[in-house]
Amino acid sequence: MNHHAIAIDGPAASGKSTMARALAERLGLVMVNSGAMYRAVTWKVLEEKINPTDAAAVRELVGRIRIDCGHDGTFSTISIDGVDPTPFLRSAEVNANVSAISAIPEVREKLVALQRDYLKSTHVVMEGRDIGSVVFPETPFKIYIDADPSVRNHRRSDDGEVDSVETRDAADSSRTTAPLVIADGATVLDTSKLSIEGAIKAAIDILRAQGFPM
Ligand code: DC
Repeated sequence: MNHHAIAIDGPAASGKSTMARALAERLGLVMVNSGAMYRAVTWKVLEEKINPTDAAAVRELVGRIRIDCGHDGTFSTISIDGVDPTPFLRSAEVNANVSAISAIPEVREKLVALQRDYLKSTHVVMEGRDIGSVVFPETPFKIYIDADPSVRNHRRSDDGEVDSVETRDAADSSRTTAPLVIADGATVLDTSKLSIEGAIKAAIDILRAQGFPM
């Protein structure tokens, strides 16, 4: 059976996770948070006291760790060498270093393979930066979520996080490998002035127009 992939891409704090979670629940797909995978590798790098800018050391680490990706029926799960790092993934240290780690091609290669593996067993709504452009370029179901930087900064600080959204976006958009772009075929949805419910309704309308079976 062919499994469907809905790709949700966009900058930091644009509302991708909220959107992906809502779509997963309403449409009966598994929500995969690809950012959590990059964050988990970043956490492991920091745990091992490796310098995040030492690409050779990070490559060596990524070559020897075991990353298990799964899901609980609705949401993606991750463990590294048997440890679930989820409680540590939104720390200020991870926020500050995740863009450097995710710019390393070998890190992306390993995680993109794990992301594609999900489709062997389930339909997914996957959120990230390169899902529509690199991970699942063939899927017809693609939304690029955007919001004004001031709105995004507010949303992030309302979450109580220490994060420099603009610095991270600049790094994620200018890197050589798989930068944040609006993928071919993606529909842009600006959520700056929308309520959560309004944004979800707009996304469902986009997916229907893209031919998603519902
Ligand atoms: O979605 P997020 O803010 O949790 O993602 C954290 C970082 O991971 C983001 O700054 C860049 C990286 N990332 C990526 O490079 N590619 C993805 N598909 C998802 C996230």
